[in-house]
Amino acid sequence: MAGIRIDGKVIAQTVKDRVKQAVTELKRQGVNPCLATILVGEDPASATYVRNKHKACKEVGIDTRDHKVDSKITQIELNSIIDSLNSDSLVHGILVQLPLPKHLDEFAATSRISPLKDVDGLTPHNAGLLAMKKAMLVACTPSGVMEMFDYHKIDLDGKNVVLINRSNLVGKPLYHLLLEKNATVITCHSKTKNLKQICQAADIIITAVGDREKFTLTADMIKEGSIVIDVAISRFHKKIVGDSDYDQIIQKASFATPVPGGVGPMTVAMLLKNTITASSLSTQIGR
Ligand code: GUN
Repeated sequence: MAGIRIDGKVIAQTVKDRVKQAVTELKRQGVNPCLATILVGEDPASATYVRNKHKACKEVGIDTRDHKVDSKITQIELNSIIDSLNSDSLVHGILVQLPLPKHLDEFAATSRISPLKDVDGLTPHNAGLLAMKKAMLVACTPSGVMEMFDYHKIDLDGKNVVLINRSNLVGKPLYHLLLEKNATVITCHSKTKNLKQICQAADIIITAVGDREKFTLTADMIKEGSIVIDVAISRFHKKIVGDSDYDQIIQKASFATPVPGGVGPMTVAMLLKNTITASSLSTQIGR
């Protein structure tokens, strides 16, 4: 029997509905939630992601600031934009769209953001709090994945979870979030040996490679009744695809996410949620 499709659009809408209510309440208290984005250069995929983020903000009543800057911007100039947004009391969340052009230092840029406005959860402060089980703002894609588990009441206690990603934005935050839920977590990456056997033993696989030339998660790699969360999004043979062969996987898995329409909408919804959290933090410290 085919498994259950985890519909990111439906779950994202439930998050957006909650965010909308929170926006109304914040506005009643005199706070106008506002997200600032910084997009460096002309990468079409990044431009689309940023446009979608602005559109989603508009839908729920969050104000936006849109900083589009030339790809040749210097680190000092980029830092100065971040500094000015950090000290702008009308801006509650700051997002530097990644990846940045090669001459810029992503760590220097993202860690310059005030931890209270760090809606990506990428600053050392917020990454550290997450690792200490004291998270304030958590990276959007990982918290979106956790929201999907919650929505479907998927119990993680004692489950063997395999992550195929070790990035600061996906794999590392997910590792901590899953561990907090008592999962046994294995993090795999490009140098992992016996990936197929590791996947075959997993109750849950969360994959985020994003390069179909190099990797596809196929049905023979998963256990009957397992759960597959596909975080990847890339173009392959003129189609938008994830890492997994969804049509085959869903025949064997108990739950799986499609691409598009799976994790993608959750990332945007959780960004809205983080912007609300950041706006509330700013009211708590009187800014
Ligand atoms: N590029 C791809 N995903 C993300 C994300 O979640 N945040 C940022 N800042 N850049 C990204």
